[in-house]
Amino acid sequence: EDAQRGGFDHYMLKEINEQPAALDRAIKGRITDDKDVHLEEFPPGTFEDVGVVHLLACGTSYHAALYAQQILADRGIPAQVFSAGEYTTTPAPVTDDTLVVAVTQSGETADTLSSIRIAADRGARTLAVTNVIGSTAARVCDDALFIRAGPEIGVAATKTFSSQVAVLALLAERIAEDVTGAVDPDREALLAALTELPGHVEQTLNQSSAEALATQFINRDEQFFIGRGVGYPVALESALKFKEITYEHAEGFAAGELKHGPLALVTSDTTVFAVFTGRHDEKTLKNVEEVRSRGAPVVAIAAGTDHEIAEAADEFLSIPETHPVAAGLLANVQLQLVSYRVADLLGRSIDKPRNLAKSVTVE
Ligand code: G6P
Repeated sequence: EDAQRGGFDHYMLKEINEQPAALDRAIKGRITDDKDVHLEEFPPGTFEDVGVVHLLACGTSYHAALYAQQILADRGIPAQVFSAGEYTTTPAPVTDDTLVVAVTQSGETADTLSSIRIAADRGARTLAVTNVIGSTAARVCDDALFIRAGPEIGVAATKTFSSQVAVLALLAERIAEDVTGAVDPDREALLAALTELPGHVEQTLNQSSAEALATQFINRDEQFFIGRGVGYPVALESALKFKEITYEHAEGFAAGELKHGPLALVTSDTTVFAVFTGRHDEKTLKNVEEVRSRGAPVVAIAAGTDHEIAEAADEFLSIPETHPVAAGLLANVQLQLVSYRVADLLGRSIDKPRNLAKSVTVE
């Protein structure tokens, strides 16, 4: 097993480090030299009849779906995200112009499969975004788009999240172009950033100070993760990762929601991780002030070039400067490392956390 872990102490750390290669495969051949989206399975025009996109998913895949919703909304495409477990009891109305996208790494999550069947029975067109060729989701959906992340052994999803987001971003661009009949002015910048992403992740992994930081932030009352825009799903995903493998209390919030309740819990024993993507950062800085004035230490994750944010926070995890959509993924990589290091210091069962399964095949 040591050999399979490729010299890493845990599969999770190996898989975190595999992200540059996984992302490379995710986008390979799918972005042309002149910054066009080329999805072999979905030529231009495939989605011209789509009116609304519904995304169904669980766990980490649910956070990737939230991320995709933001990208679609940004391109003017109405999109809603549903927790698959909820969808099975309260399905959303669909019409024949609804595209249902099931996001599932394994393609075998029972709640997600049930919700796909419900949507299909109601007449929706279905598409699986999955890692596993031949999985049930890939077979039962009308279409499938593969994320090519390679096998993921660690129960806590890492590389599959990054690959899901990258592939969903490409799908979002295809859908947006087909539906609106136009190419968004921001597309070139986004595709350029995705092309640079494997290198940027490599750089982030090589230069991360997450390990040093983790020693400072173990055994705290609780950890909050905040962000806005795509920083919000990153906050949720980072909190999920933290609780899954450290067994410590962690919650993710939309930065703007802090003042509507969670702020009551903030004390000097709360560590707040604030995600900055280069978009609406000034607003998130206000939230940083709110928690710091209550004594909470703040770890900011932002572009290394942003000195204002570095000065406003107690600790700083730096990422390369890039498009906000890619910045969110880079911040997520930093926070994967934080969770991993804290869990390791606490001696947790990182690859197989208690009570959790890699794929939940019962409803
Ligand atoms: C389980 C795993 C999570 C995963 C979720 C959805 O709960 O522990 O890591 O995100 O299932 O899995 P899927 O295969 O549908 O993406």
